[in-house]
Amino acid sequence: MAEDLLVQKGAKETQYKSLIPQIKALLDGEEDIVANMANVAAALWQQFGWFWTGFYIVKKDQLVLGPFQGPIACTRIAKGRGVCGTAWQEAQTLIVPDVEAFPGHIACSSASRSEIVVPIIQNNQVVAVLDIDSDQLDSFDETDKTYLEQIVQFLHF
Ligand code: SME
Repeated sequence: MAEDLLVQKGAKETQYKSLIPQIKALLDGEEDIVANMANVAAALWQQFGWFWTGFYIVKKDQLVLGPFQGPIACTRIAKGRGVCGTAWQEAQTLIVPDVEAFPGHIACSSASRSEIVVPIIQNNQVVAVLDIDSDQLDSFDETDKTYLEQIVQFLHF
């Protein structure tokens, strides 16, 4: 079991290491933030086959749905609500191994089982969050956190 986990972790790291230069190349020379968020959501979705990958953008006192890949989703989330609103409020990445065990989780789809939300911080303000949902339990770990936090830094709002 421990060995299996190590193999999985290694495989994930390898995938991120090959994906990051591709994402950099995709964003290079394009300054439109919507176009760039759209391609990041698609690149992550294609690489890992996750259930839902996308962005929520801070607009006034709410998060509003941005570019994504996957099934239709809730359009607005208040600060402090759900995993996304909590990651915004706390300005830190949240890894949720079992969404049903997260108080206040917002179920846009009952198929979602685990989730990671990475806030995008610019000039000391959260400007958006990257939200990724998996239809499997316990899909996300520190490896995802490390690389996803790097990837969102390529986006300039
Ligand atoms: N589950 C999220 C809501 C967004 S959807 O998963 C796309 C939450 O609890 O904030």
